[in-house]
Amino acid sequence: MTERAALGSFSPDMRAVVFGAGGGLGGAIVELLASSPRVAKVYAFTRASAPPVHPKVEALRFELQDEESIAAAASRCKPEGPVHLVFVATGVLHAGAGLQPE
Ligand SMILES: NC(=O)c1ccc[n+]([C@@H]2O[C@H](COP(=O)([O-])OP(=O)(O)OC[C@H]3O[C@@H](n4cnc5c(N)ncnc54)[C@H](OP(=O)(O)O)[C@@H]3O)[C@@H](O)[C@H]2O)c1
Repeated sequence: MTERAALGSFSPDMRAVVFGAGGGLGGAIVELLASSPRVAKVYAFTRASAPPVHPKVEALRFELQDEESIAAAASRCKPEGPVHLVFVATGVLHAGAGLQPE
């Protein structure tokens, strides 16, 4: 299935939010969304400041363990219209010898 077909059920000017946009999965999703003609805007939330990878992408900061920063993230996206997709790619896959993927 092509990415265009995969996004076919969304609004043709869809707006998406990705949390964890600096990670492996989140970064790949941001690139995929930004490359789709159906996507008008991607809000890419990361812990660290990151340069936008595409003109449609706005890089923004947030911290998952700080509720106020999550509320601020929602406030940032809301005024520009409806969000059609929220993709949460935060987490920890591995952290040294004590925490490894299955
Ligand atoms: N990769 C896989 O094959 C796979 C398979 C199954 C499940 N998963 C799960 O999917 C999730 C993402 O995987 P990944 O491979 O993309 O991992 P990753 O490259 O380590 O990315 C994790 C992301 O989570 C962010 N993050 C962690 N703690 C945060 C916090 N307190 N506040 C804000 N952001 C935080 C990281 O931000 P920073 O960039 O600032 O560190 C990073 O962007 C993980 O939960 C993983 O267990 C992954």
